[in-house]
Amino acid sequence: MNDKACGAPCALIVMGVSGSGKSTIAARLAERLGWTYEDGDRFHPASNVAKMSAGHPLTDADRWPWLQAIADEIDRVCLSGGHVVIACSALKRAYREVLVHGRSDVRIVFLSGTQTLIADRLARRKGHFMPPGLLDSQFKTLEPPAGDENPVTVSIEAPVDGIVEDVVRELKNGRADGPGPARNQI
Ligand SMILES: Nc1ncnc2c1ncn2[C@@H]1O[C@H](COP(=O)(O)OP(=O)(O)OP(=O)(O)O)[C@@H](O)[C@H]1O
Ligand SMILES: [Mg+2]
Repeated sequence: MNDKACGAPCALIVMGVSGSGKSTIAARLAERLGWTYEDGDRFHPASNVAKMSAGHPLTDADRWPWLQAIADEIDRVCLSGGHVVIACSALKRAYREVLVHGRSDVRIVFLSGTQTLIADRLARRKGHFMPPGLLDSQFKTLEPPAGDENPVTVSIEAPVDGIVEDVVRELKNGRADGPGPARNQI
């Protein structure tokens, strides 16, 4: 049975507000599964990077080519038989629709946590400046994934490895071909 036929994902999109742990969890999850890790920010066109560096917020019009570039990367990796975990905020459903584009082998992993907990983690995070109000606006923008998006939703309260195991368990639960994933598979 090939991956597609048994519904195994070839790409996971780890989403959530800034500071929810996307980079941390996606990297550890990729390591756990033996998959490639990518940070979605890497796919911004130069014009977006320039805009962000100048301190200007991106509009949705700026975001579509960026999201499309990530979707193209997903297609490329999956077509070549690879597997990837991508950290990407993907706060709105419309953004996720571009990323997933109807593929049943692309799954959303939603990092769910309270604003208080995330603000506390951001305050402790080293090497990052967080403009005041950004977290507020992230929570206002956030459209948590709905049931029909078939997300894996995990609480971010646990330690990193616990969250990673929660995700792996949830992914296995949805599989028809039982437990015991080999490396590169779930
Ligand atoms: N489960 C966890 N327990 C404790 N600390 C955590 C956990 N997950 C992440 N962190 C810490 O929280 C901070 C934010 O995590 P991270 O940078 O991965 O978030 P992010 O969602 O990628 O943020 P951004 O959107 O700004 O890139 C980091 O300092 C990280 O070490
Ligand atoms: Mg990050």
